[in-house]
Amino acid sequence: MKNLFAGLFFVLSAALLSAQCPVIPAPTSYTSQKTQFELKETVLVNFGDVPVNIQQHLEHMLLENYGLKLINANDKIPQITFREVDPVDHNDFYSIEVREQTVSVDYTSEAYCFYAVNSLFQLIENSGKSYFIRSGKLIDYPKFSWRGLHLDVSRHFFTVDEVKRYIDLMAFYKFNTFHWHLTDDQGWRIEIKQFPKLTETGAWRDSTVNKHYTTVPRTYTVEKYGGFYTQEQIKNVIKYAADRYITVVPEIEMPGHARAALSAYPELSCTGKRQGAEGLWGVFDDIYCSKKETIDFNKAVLDEVAALFPSPYIHIGGDEAPKERWKKCPDCQRVIRENGLKDEHELQSYFIRQIDAHLTSKGKKLIGWDEILEGGLSPNASVMSWRGFEGGIEAVKQGHAVVMSPGSHCYFDHYQSSHPNEPIAFGGFTPIEKVYAFDPVPPGLSEQESELILGAQANLWTEYIPDMKQLEYMVYPRALALSQVLWSVNKPSYEDFQQVLVDKHLPLLERKGVNYSKAMFYPQLTIVPGEKQSSSLSYQFNKPQNKLSYFYSEEINGKRILLKDSKNKAIDSLPVAGNFAKSFEKYPSEQDYTAHLSVFDGKNFLNYATFTYHIHAGLGLPVKFITPPNKRYAGKELTLVDGVIGRIPWNSSEWIGFDTSRIVLEMDLQEKKTVKSLGLRFLDDESSWIHVPENVEVQHSTDGKKWVSLQQKTQVKTQLEIQQSCRYLRFIITSKTQIPDGKPGAGHVPWTFMDEIIVLIE
Ligand code: ACM
Ligand code: ZN
Repeated sequence: MKNLFAGLFFVLSAALLSAQCPVIPAPTSYTSQKTQFELKETVLVNFGDVPVNIQQHLEHMLLENYGLKLINANDKIPQITFREVDPVDHNDFYSIEVREQTVSVDYTSEAYCFYAVNSLFQLIENSGKSYFIRSGKLIDYPKFSWRGLHLDVSRHFFTVDEVKRYIDLMAFYKFNTFHWHLTDDQGWRIEIKQFPKLTETGAWRDSTVNKHYTTVPRTYTVEKYGGFYTQEQIKNVIKYAADRYITVVPEIEMPGHARAALSAYPELSCTGKRQGAEGLWGVFDDIYCSKKETIDFNKAVLDEVAALFPSPYIHIGGDEAPKERWKKCPDCQRVIRENGLKDEHELQSYFIRQIDAHLTSKGKKLIGWDEILEGGLSPNASVMSWRGFEGGIEAVKQGHAVVMSPGSHCYFDHYQSSHPNEPIAFGGFTPIEKVYAFDPVPPGLSEQESELILGAQANLWTEYIPDMKQLEYMVYPRALALSQVLWSVNKPSYEDFQQVLVDKHLPLLERKGVNYSKAMFYPQLTIVPGEKQSSSLSYQFNKPQNKLSYFYSEEINGKRILLKDSKNKAIDSLPVAGNFAKSFEKYPSEQDYTAHLSVFDGKNFLNYATFTYHIHAGLGLPVKFITPPNKRYAGKELTLVDGVIGRIPWNSSEWIGFDTSRIVLEMDLQEKKTVKSLGLRFLDDESSWIHVPENVEVQHSTDGKKWVSLQQKTQVKTQLEIQQSCRYLRFIITSKTQIPDGKPGAGHVPWTFMDEIIVLIE
């Protein structure tokens, strides 16, 4: 879809673009003039061939939001005229031309008429006295054809009305694909008439884990939880989405994430053991057995699914299927032998190939998570790349279609700020700026390969999203950033996007009652090295919005010692960039320093940001990464010496992650110092494959060339007592080469995550 109209429409100069278009996602081209079209209480319209559902949609939006009435012009001269036109070179588009007296809307298809109507609504501005649209012209078509949002209804269930509201908001921002994650370990949510126990039994769990699943000891709410959609309800949702030009892609998970199905039909597992749908989050060893009976069962389920959903794609999951049971199962081993398969990965591929052939015979296309590449990709399969971009790159190189959904940019269950009051989330760190910077097409692909990338989608896993309020908090406004990534051929700068968001769309979301996150206004923290990087750091808080006043106070070791202005007067004298810096010079002893920042909007303190730093002698010292961290978790230059203690559940902005079992780091103390002790901090989150290393060796050197071993430690979570005069330090950190059997990620190299090297000197 890229460069679809290259050469067809003229390219706009920067000068013409200076007036910002209030529409999100930003249109392909937009020009505006000083004059405007005024909207009076009643507006005469000629709808032409616009379908009734779209007419009603516009009428409803105008009346509901602005009290404006659309009236059919009949024999009067219309103010707004709709016209269906032919595509240009087979490419769909819509355009809106606004003059002082009239508005013309051209569109090439029903869907583009719907897009036009939403844009027309968003173009309306309020002068305080009246509603108007700036004169000008807008021409628009999307960059990508797959513009998706996903919703997991297994971990938490959402009613039909809630799903419809999710779809409504998607449609308003020109998403066109709703990926409905209907089955998982924690609940089966779709009625399948041939297998009634899937919903009688599999839709319900007895308990749900409390708090974050890494919190030990775990506690549970012991309460029956669940729900499901009847086929009639599913049809109703599909119709509702279709009326909004959204395709619903169902996901039926196999061979992993099948515990809810196996609670209903344990004979489909390898062991036959009877156990309920899961009340815990994670990855579980009990998956579908690969015997014929199970594959036949899944084919029969998919027959009903394929008949229900008009979507050309059916998602079959395929992610996170541990092979523990298959390795020990006589049935699975027999399938491997009889089909000449090499191992359990090829067995998974064999499983998926049969499902692929079946779906193909039904006229449907299989799409699955990137694990379906393991053991060989099935001939007709498309891939949804979630573990980074690599799976997607591999698939397009093999000539398969891809939807990008990398965790780094597209997981809306990740944290969106490092604010201490951010509600509990799965982990990770995906602020809105990062979503905005996302490009679904990674560099280095040929044009042909790039064409195979259909688009992208954000995923919403609902482990920590129990209701609509939290759902909207996680999705909005990040979804607006993604809509711009997926639609806007000429994506404006982040700053311009932010301005339109603040001026137009946050008030619109407010009016729609959307509980959107205000994380983008939280003060951000930047850490800068001090002079010559000698045990000194500055922390700078930015002022995200110039209109707001900021208050600052600080405390050391738990004692609030200073309020910057005793009269609570705002520090409006903050420098132009809005930074306030605090420096630490040569702090020899350990202490906690806390800075509080409150934001005052004239009426209320909007949010109270608290940042705590652990002050030690290593702050700002140069760390040399002899072993580079993984690119996805590379942190910043100072992450290991910034005084920021990483939180748990971990937020990847505060941790550095390595994916090798031997890590070497060096630190330059800048001058000879007597080091009293060293504290290396590691993350322990085995469910995310992150292990504490087995051994740490510390070496020192006076010249950076000759190294002497100081200490080895196997109990590495504790402090290393050193008492040694040294200039350079080297850390050799070793882990197991493979995660042991029975643990999540068994067989893979464990991750090592570090957040700080705490140095104490005499
Ligand atoms: C996934 O997040 N397991 C696809
Ligand atoms: Zn088996």
